[in-house]
Amino acid sequence: MKNVLVTGGAGFIGSNFVRYILEADPQVQIINLDALTYAGSLENLKDLPNADHHTFVQGDICNRDFVRDLLRQHQIDTIIHFAAETHVDRSILGPEPFIQTNVIGTFTLLEAARQYWQVENALPLDQVRFHHVSTDEVYGTLAPDDPAFSETTPYAPNSPYAASKASSDHLVRSYNHTYQLPVTISNCSNNYGPRQFPEKLIPLVILNALTGKHLPVYGDGQQIRDWLFVTDHCEAIHKIVVDGKPGETYNIGGNNQPANLTIIETICDLLDELQPLAEPHRSLIKFVTDRPGHDRRYAMNISKIERDLGWKPRHSLTDGLLATVQWILANPEWVSAIQKQHEYQTWLSKNYEKRENPS
Ligand code: NAD
Ligand code: DAU
Repeated sequence: MKNVLVTGGAGFIGSNFVRYILEADPQVQIINLDALTYAGSLENLKDLPNADHHTFVQGDICNRDFVRDLLRQHQIDTIIHFAAETHVDRSILGPEPFIQTNVIGTFTLLEAARQYWQVENALPLDQVRFHHVSTDEVYGTLAPDDPAFSETTPYAPNSPYAASKASSDHLVRSYNHTYQLPVTISNCSNNYGPRQFPEKLIPLVILNALTGKHLPVYGDGQQIRDWLFVTDHCEAIHKIVVDGKPGETYNIGGNNQPANLTIIETICDLLDELQPLAEPHRSLIKFVTDRPGHDRRYAMNISKIERDLGWKPRHSLTDGLLATVQWILANPEWVSAIQKQHEYQTWLSKNYEKRENPS
């Protein structure tokens, strides 16, 4: 890894990864390509460590000539692909951008990499890597007693988001099988931590609780996710890129699987200690209309990455949630920049007004 193209590096996980890698591997040069959609922000890239090894470029991964020129200009040997449309609820209300960025965008990047590395023969294939960051949602949903998802679980994506990520995984895999492009894929469970856009459950609940708003629980709140603190995910990706075998897929997960309602109650209890209100924060909890097609349970079997690469999560959910709440409390400018976004307020009305008051 010398010249690394990170896509989506102004988003939640991408910006945490950029920060992580600039510290972990100070020799590396990062080119950070991000379109700055509603989910991406330069606020996420403030005060980077080793900042002279980071270059931000605003652009769209769907623009093939632009991407190919970027690979040539910076002699990119490693691509770490985070850029995506990522929110399941948005994919239900408007799937088109998910197909564009997640499917066409990934295809465009693969073609640009193949052109530069293979057709133009710019770099030896044993010195390059295309790493695709994907999700556990490609495997569908689990019944209460089913074993956790493994790397050989058949794909069964249920939402337009999950289907678009599954499509992109298949394209990446095919570029290895057909063209021998050195790719790796990671499928990871739900991340949380600093800089997560507050449309996702944990930051949304923290911000709503801090401002005395309802805490919306979809359905009965007994759905289960496998929560992972974001820096643990960054560490796993780094290990895969450095030591993972081309052509392989690795599952990443947190070994933390409480029900959504338990997560929300834990956040309420934390805030009762850190920022007490007149009433306990749990009084803000409100059960609302469920997500259509809502996956009931995810759980990841992470024995392959533990065995082959020696990675396991470092953070318990208790540590990670406390760190997340503390980060939000310590960064009011980051919060207010998002709360001022017209697009964010429009999204909150569009997603929650009908759910809270179905008629
Ligand atoms: P995010 O929504 O916070 O950030 C996505 C970033 O991609 C944004 O900065 C956005 O501007 C950028 N982007 C979107 N479309 C683009 C385009 N066409 N060209 C260039 N940039 C574009 O997402 P995240 O939560 O950080 O997720 C990053 C990746 O990790 C995604 O691929 C996602 O599927 C995967 N993932 C996320 C989670 C999770 O819990 N958040 C879990 C597993 C996997
Ligand atoms: O599993 C990995 C995936 O995790 C990633 O691939 C996605 O990009 C990421 O968005 C996330 O998807 P989820 O749908 O699981 O995350 P979200 O935070 O939207 O929801 C988590 C759970 O909480 C889910 O069961 C729905 C529920 N929920 C969510 C919101 C926003 C609520 O009950 N209320 C809410 O207001």
